[in-house]
Amino acid sequence: MDAFGRAGKDFLKKDNDEFIYVESKTMEDDVIPVEHLFRDFKQMPESEKKALEKCKGKVLDVGGGVGSHSLYLQSNFFDVTMLDICDGLCNVATQRGIKKVVCEDFFELSTEEKYDTLIFMMNGIGIGGSFDFFEKTIKKSTALLNPNGTIIFDSTDIAFCYEQEDGSVVVPLNIEYPGFVKFRLKYKNEIDNWFNWAYYDMDKLKSLLPNHLKLDVLHEEGPAYSAQISGF
Ligand SMILES: C[S@@+](CC[C@H](N)C(=O)[O-])C[C@H]1O[C@@H](n2cnc3c(N)ncnc32)[C@H](O)[C@@H]1O
Repeated sequence: MDAFGRAGKDFLKKDNDEFIYVESKTMEDDVIPVEHLFRDFKQMPESEKKALEKCKGKVLDVGGGVGSHSLYLQSNFFDVTMLDICDGLCNVATQRGIKKVVCEDFFELSTEEKYDTLIFMMNGIGIGGSFDFFEKTIKKSTALLNPNGTIIFDSTDIAFCYEQEDGSVVVPLNIEYPGFVKFRLKYKNEIDNWFNWAYYDMDKLKSLLPNHLKLDVLHEEGPAYSAQISGF
């Protein structure tokens, strides 16, 4: 997602284009306003606000992007670390004043640190875009969390993308799960590589969790929701 990094750098220099373009093999093409990455608390959707209000203790912001959620938590005196795989985004987050920024692949992160809350915002729980990656995400999170720690995330049920005129949902046979998507980002004249992501609906996500873990919904608005996973 280097397009995010390039756009973020431009935004700080006030030299940004308005949009990052999202091309998809499964959904309609879309745009993300660059400004949205830099949203403050007031500009965040309700599901993100509810998610941030549930954070406790030491927080790891996984796939933190330009660090908007970390910045809010830091200004509210949380001990927060922002983690992102993209160098450009980590630079932007540091320039915005986030004190603890780690530039690393979440799955490769090697640390003795333990956290009370892991946040995965803007559908971050769908990292990797497969059921295998979801299992790895839960395993890695378990290793990083203190006892009684929680995962907090937001997501969207995108089954509506396959809705027919009569309201039924018809998923093409070659798609394992309607929430799996393939994206490619374009910013200015550069196009990134294709990558996989997932948008889990609540029931699917519950069914993927090991028995000892529990999902509680924090906020629901149409197909979008935020939720907390506990029991670690
Ligand atoms: C959809 S963006 C969300 C950005 C931010 N959380 C927000 O809400 O604005 C997903 C982020 O995850 C990061 N990311 C993707 N794969 C990652 C990985 N394996 N480890 C760490 N970060 C990753 C991307 O660089 C990107 O910044």
